[in-house]
Amino acid sequence: MNSWEVLEREEVEFLGSTWTLLPGVYPMQRVRSSRFFWERLQELGPVESFLEIGCGSGALSVLGVKAGTYRSATAVDINPTAVENTLLNARRHGVESRVEVRRSDVFASLDEGQRFDLIFWNSPGVFLEEGATLTDHERSVFDPGYVAHTRYLSEGSTYLTENGRLTLGFCGNGDLRLLEQKAADAGLTMKTLAEDDQGSHPHWLLEFRH
Ligand SMILES: C[S@@+](CC[C@H](N)C(=O)[O-])C[C@H]1O[C@@H](n2cnc3c(N)ncnc32)[C@H](O)[C@@H]1O
Repeated sequence: MNSWEVLEREEVEFLGSTWTLLPGVYPMQRVRSSRFFWERLQELGPVESFLEIGCGSGALSVLGVKAGTYRSATAVDINPTAVENTLLNARRHGVESRVEVRRSDVFASLDEGQRFDLIFWNSPGVFLEEGATLTDHERSVFDPGYVAHTRYLSEGSTYLTENGRLTLGFCGNGDLRLLEQKAADAGLTMKTLAEDDQGSHPHWLLEFRH
Protein backbone atom coordinates (compact mmCIF):
# COMPACT_ATOMS: atom_id res chain seq x y z
CA MET A 1 0.00 0.00 0.00
CA ASN A 2 2.82 2.43 0.81
CA SER A 3 6.49 2.62 1.71
CA TRP A 4 5.98 1.80 5.38
CA GLU A 5 4.20 -1.51 4.84
CA VAL A 6 6.17 -4.39 6.45
CA LEU A 7 6.81 -7.02 3.74
CA GLU A 8 9.07 -9.45 5.60
CA ARG A 9 9.99 -10.23 9.19
CA GLU A 10 12.21 -7.55 10.70
CA GLU A 11 14.04 -6.91 13.96
CA VAL A 12 13.56 -3.22 14.81
CA GLU A 13 14.49 -0.72 17.52
CA PHE A 14 11.69 1.09 19.34
CA LEU A 15 11.98 3.11 22.53
CA GLY A 16 15.37 1.70 23.43
CA SER A 17 14.82 -2.00 22.85
CA THR A 18 14.56 -4.56 20.06
CA TRP A 19 11.25 -5.91 18.72
CA THR A 20 10.13 -8.42 16.16
CA LEU A 21 7.86 -7.08 13.43
CA LEU A 22 5.95 -9.49 11.18
CA PRO A 23 4.61 -8.80 7.65
CA GLY A 24 1.46 -6.69 7.51
CA VAL A 25 1.76 -5.55 11.15
CA TYR A 26 1.76 -1.82 11.98
CA PRO A 27 5.40 -0.61 12.03
CA MET A 28 5.37 1.34 15.30
CA GLN A 29 8.98 2.51 14.91
CA ARG A 30 8.28 4.20 11.53
CA VAL A 31 5.36 6.38 12.60
CA ARG A 32 4.87 9.13 15.19
CA SER A 33 1.66 7.82 16.69
CA SER A 34 2.80 4.80 18.72
CA ARG A 35 5.57 6.72 20.49
CA PHE A 36 3.30 9.71 21.20
CA PHE A 37 0.51 7.53 22.61
CA TRP A 38 3.01 5.47 24.66
CA GLU A 39 4.33 8.67 26.29
CA ARG A 40 0.87 10.13 26.99
CA LEU A 41 -0.57 6.84 28.26
CA GLN A 42 2.15 6.67 30.91
CA GLU A 43 0.56 9.75 32.47
CA LEU A 44 -2.73 7.85 32.97
CA GLY A 45 -1.11 5.08 35.03
CA PRO A 46 -0.27 3.19 37.07
CA VAL A 47 -3.32 0.93 36.82
CA GLU A 48 -4.00 -2.71 37.55
CA SER A 49 -5.48 -3.75 34.23
CA PHE A 50 -5.01 -2.44 30.69
CA LEU A 51 -6.93 -3.50 27.60
CA GLU A 52 -5.38 -2.67 24.26
CA ILE A 53 -7.56 -3.07 21.21
CA GLY A 54 -5.53 -3.35 17.99
CA CYS A 55 -2.20 -4.17 19.65
CA GLY A 56 -0.21 -4.62 16.39
CA SER A 57 3.33 -5.60 17.42
CA GLY A 58 2.26 -5.48 21.09
CA ALA A 59 4.84 -2.84 21.98
CA LEU A 60 2.52 -0.57 24.00
CA SER A 61 1.12 -3.39 26.15
CA VAL A 62 4.48 -5.10 26.61
CA LEU A 63 6.30 -1.87 27.47
CA GLY A 64 3.54 -0.79 29.86
CA VAL A 65 3.71 -4.06 31.80
CA LYS A 66 7.51 -4.03 31.74
CA ALA A 67 7.54 -0.49 33.11
CA GLY A 68 5.07 -1.39 35.86
CA THR A 69 2.45 1.04 34.52
CA TYR A 70 0.04 -1.89 34.11
CA ARG A 71 0.09 -4.88 36.43
CA SER A 72 -1.44 -6.89 33.60
CA ALA A 73 -2.50 -6.27 30.02
CA THR A 74 -4.91 -7.90 27.62
CA ALA A 75 -3.86 -7.24 24.04
CA VAL A 76 -6.16 -8.08 21.13
CA ASP A 77 -6.10 -7.58 17.38
CA ILE A 78 -8.27 -8.63 14.46
CA ASN A 79 -5.13 -9.51 12.49
CA PRO A 80 -3.88 -13.01 13.44
CA THR A 81 -0.31 -12.06 12.50
CA ALA A 82 -0.47 -9.18 15.01
CA VAL A 83 -1.60 -11.67 17.66
CA GLU A 84 1.38 -13.93 16.86
CA ASN A 85 3.66 -10.87 16.78
CA THR A 86 2.50 -9.67 20.21
CA LEU A 87 3.07 -13.14 21.69
CA LEU A 88 6.62 -13.16 20.28
CA ASN A 89 7.37 -9.74 21.74
CA ALA A 90 5.80 -10.53 25.13
CA ARG A 91 8.07 -13.60 25.36
CA ARG A 92 11.08 -11.71 24.11
CA HIS A 93 10.60 -9.09 26.85
CA GLY A 94 9.80 -11.66 29.55
CA VAL A 95 6.23 -10.53 30.32
CA GLU A 96 4.20 -13.31 28.69
CA SER A 97 2.67 -14.31 32.04
CA ARG A 98 1.18 -10.82 32.45
CA VAL A 99 0.14 -10.08 28.85
CA GLU A 100 -2.81 -12.08 27.61
CA VAL A 101 -3.08 -12.03 23.84
CA ARG A 102 -6.16 -12.88 21.78
CA ARG A 103 -7.55 -12.49 18.32
CA SER A 104 -10.62 -10.31 18.57
CA ASP A 105 -12.76 -8.03 16.42
CA VAL A 106 -12.88 -5.07 18.85
CA PHE A 107 -14.38 -6.58 22.08
CA ALA A 108 -15.98 -9.68 20.51
CA SER A 109 -13.60 -12.30 22.00
CA LEU A 110 -13.48 -10.92 25.54
CA ASP A 111 -15.14 -12.87 28.31
CA GLU A 112 -18.37 -11.64 29.80
CA GLY A 113 -17.57 -9.85 33.05
CA GLN A 114 -14.00 -8.87 32.15
CA ARG A 115 -13.27 -5.34 33.38
CA PHE A 116 -10.32 -3.00 32.83
CA ASP A 117 -9.04 0.20 34.44
CA LEU A 118 -7.82 1.60 31.16
CA ILE A 119 -8.94 0.76 27.62
CA PHE A 120 -7.03 2.15 24.65
CA TRP A 121 -6.98 1.80 20.87
CA ASN A 122 -4.50 3.50 18.53
CA SER A 123 -7.20 3.21 15.95
CA PRO A 124 -7.25 2.99 12.15
CA GLY A 125 -8.91 6.38 11.90
CA VAL A 126 -9.15 6.95 8.14
CA PHE A 127 -12.75 6.70 6.91
CA LEU A 128 -13.65 4.65 3.81
CA GLU A 129 -17.05 3.78 2.41
CA GLU A 130 -18.61 0.86 4.28
CA GLY A 131 -17.97 -2.57 2.75
CA ALA A 132 -14.46 -1.95 1.38
CA THR A 133 -12.19 -5.04 1.44
CA LEU A 134 -8.86 -4.46 3.16
CA THR A 135 -5.48 -6.18 3.56
CA ASP A 136 -4.07 -6.65 7.07
CA HIS A 137 -1.82 -3.64 6.59
CA GLU A 138 -4.69 -1.47 5.33
CA ARG A 139 -6.76 -2.46 8.37
CA SER A 140 -4.16 -0.59 10.49
CA VAL A 141 -5.17 2.62 8.72
CA PHE A 142 -8.78 2.40 7.46
CA ASP A 143 -12.10 1.62 9.12
CA PRO A 144 -14.83 1.31 6.46
CA GLY A 145 -18.02 3.06 7.59
CA TYR A 146 -16.41 3.60 11.03
CA VAL A 147 -18.11 0.30 11.90
CA ALA A 148 -15.35 -0.77 14.31
CA HIS A 149 -15.14 2.72 15.90
CA THR A 150 -18.91 2.68 16.43
CA ARG A 151 -18.64 -0.64 18.27
CA TYR A 152 -15.69 0.58 20.31
CA LEU A 153 -17.71 3.57 21.49
CA SER A 154 -21.00 1.79 22.08
CA GLU A 155 -19.55 -1.30 23.84
CA GLY A 156 -16.41 0.08 25.54
CA SER A 157 -17.99 1.26 28.81
CA THR A 158 -19.29 -2.27 29.44
CA TYR A 159 -15.70 -3.44 29.97
CA LEU A 160 -14.62 -0.69 32.40
CA THR A 161 -14.10 -0.97 36.15
CA GLU A 162 -16.00 1.58 38.23
CA ASN A 163 -13.44 4.36 37.71
CA GLY A 164 -12.10 2.94 34.46
CA ARG A 165 -11.26 5.12 31.47
CA LEU A 166 -12.13 4.61 27.79
CA THR A 167 -9.51 6.27 25.59
CA LEU A 168 -8.68 6.37 21.89
CA GLY A 169 -5.63 7.42 19.89
CA PHE A 170 -6.91 9.16 16.76
CA CYS A 171 -5.10 10.71 13.78
CA GLY A 172 -5.64 13.88 11.80
CA ASN A 173 -6.33 11.91 8.61
CA GLY A 174 -9.50 10.69 10.29
CA ASP A 175 -12.85 12.45 10.54
CA LEU A 176 -12.86 13.88 14.06
CA ARG A 177 -16.32 15.45 13.71
CA LEU A 178 -17.85 12.17 12.55
CA LEU A 179 -16.14 10.40 15.47
CA GLU A 180 -17.60 12.93 17.91
CA GLN A 181 -21.04 12.38 16.35
CA LYS A 182 -20.67 8.60 16.76
CA ALA A 183 -19.70 9.18 20.40
CA ALA A 184 -22.75 11.39 20.96
CA ASP A 185 -24.93 8.69 19.38
CA ALA A 186 -23.51 6.29 22.00
CA GLY A 187 -24.31 8.80 24.78
CA LEU A 188 -20.66 9.81 25.27
CA THR A 189 -18.85 13.12 25.40
CA MET A 190 -15.40 13.38 23.88
CA LYS A 191 -12.49 15.15 25.56
CA THR A 192 -8.97 15.75 24.21
CA LEU A 193 -6.37 14.66 26.77
CA ALA A 194 -3.31 15.39 24.61
CA GLU A 195 -2.44 16.61 21.11
CA ASP A 196 0.65 16.05 18.97
CA ASP A 197 0.89 18.66 16.22
CA GLN A 198 4.53 18.09 15.28
CA GLY A 199 4.17 15.55 12.43
CA SER A 200 2.65 15.67 8.94
CA HIS A 201 -0.78 15.40 10.59
CA PRO A 202 -1.90 15.74 14.22
CA HIS A 203 -2.69 12.95 16.66
CA TRP A 204 -5.01 13.18 19.62
CA LEU A 205 -5.37 11.11 22.76
CA LEU A 206 -9.13 11.24 23.41
CA GLU A 207 -11.27 10.12 26.32
CA PHE A 208 -14.99 9.25 26.23
CA ARG A 209 -17.33 9.50 29.20
CA HIS A 210 -21.04 9.04 29.80
C1 LIG B 1 -2.77 2.07 14.03
S1 LIG B 1 -2.54 0.34 14.33
C2 LIG B 1 -1.94 0.37 16.02
C3 LIG B 1 -0.98 -0.75 16.37
C4 LIG B 1 -0.33 -0.65 17.76
N1 LIG B 1 -1.31 -0.56 18.80
C5 LIG B 1 0.59 0.54 17.84
O1 LIG B 1 0.21 1.57 18.41
O2 LIG B 1 1.72 0.44 17.34
C6 LIG B 1 -4.24 -0.21 14.49
C7 LIG B 1 -4.41 -1.68 14.85
O3 LIG B 1 -5.81 -1.97 14.97
C8 LIG B 1 -6.06 -3.27 14.43
N2 LIG B 1 -7.50 -3.37 14.09
C9 LIG B 1 -8.15 -2.87 13.02
N3 LIG B 1 -9.44 -3.18 13.06
C10 LIG B 1 -9.64 -3.90 14.20
C11 LIG B 1 -10.78 -4.51 14.80
N4 LIG B 1 -11.98 -4.41 14.22
N5 LIG B 1 -10.62 -5.17 15.97
C12 LIG B 1 -9.38 -5.28 16.54
N6 LIG B 1 -8.26 -4.72 16.01
C13 LIG B 1 -8.39 -4.03 14.86
C14 LIG B 1 -5.12 -3.35 13.24
O4 LIG B 1 -4.92 -4.69 12.84
C15 LIG B 1 -3.87 -2.66 13.82
O5 LIG B 1 -3.02 -3.59 14.44
